Amino acid sequence: MIIALSHQKGGVGKSTLAYNLAVELNKKFNVNVVDLDVQQTITACNIIRGKFGQKQLNIVSFDDKKNFIEFLNEDNDKTITVIDTGGFDSGMNRVAMYAADLILTPVSTEFLEVIGLEKYKKIIKDVSKKVGKEIKTHVVLNKIHHSQQNFTDIQNFINKSPKQFSLMSSVLRRRSDFNISLSHGFSVCEFDNKSDSSKEIKNLIVEISNILNLKKAQKKRK
Ligand SMILES: Nc1ncnc2c1ncn2[C@@H]1O[C@H](COP(=O)(O)OP(=O)(O)OP(=O)(O)O)[C@@H](O)[C@H]1O
Ligand SMILES: [Mg+2]
Repeated sequence: MIIALSHQKGGVGKSTLAYNLAVELNKKFNVNVVDLDVQQTITACNIIRGKFGQKQLNIVSFDDKKNFIEFLNEDNDKTITVIDTGGFDSGMNRVAMYAADLILTPVSTEFLEVIGLEKYKKIIKDVSKKVGKEIKTHVVLNKIHHSQQNFTDIQNFINKSPKQFSLMSSVLRRRSDFNISLSHGFSVCEFDNKSDSSKEIKNLIVEISNILNLKKAQKKRK
């Protein structure tokens, strides 16, 4: 199973969500992480994680597309590979989009986010055309102001492009513990298992599990 966090727009929360999902999924499943972010955010957090005595993630690196494709071709339903793509368009990021069983695209609801999604839609269409497969991404609302309840603008935009986008039900609010927990190499759930952000990540994992039909068979053997 391959889950890619992907958006050509920077700073939307790809690395933050990829890290939180990978750490939590790694408790039940065999998880590999591919860090395509030039800032190597996940790799850095994982090193900090080790220093705080937590079990580190298995991060796999690739210098070229060929090795990356070979690795992804070996994907099976006993493993979950979480790919954190960079906030730009590249051959490697496109491979991740093509190979993913689930693409998650974090966006906030600010006006410029719709413009960012419009640009990403062109990339999705281009990749779909080149590989002869309809590629679709699941948009996750992230960094949302705590008082905002109305998401009509972004919903309307997504509804206009049902081939490329669908909207996840999970909403992740802008919360300081995403930042604080990362600075310790923790997921928000490890940082405070009862926090609101922790509940939001758990809800997102339930939604992902339902989409991908993650089964007991994929669970780690003890
Ligand atoms: N739900 C959230 N609440 C508060 N802060 C958040 C949330 N999600 C992400 N952030 C913060 O937003 C900033 C950008 O997040 P992140 O680095 O994960 O984005 P990115 O999409 O990976 O960026 P890039 O494209 O540059 O790799 C970080 O400071 C992160 O802590
Ligand atoms: Mg990043």
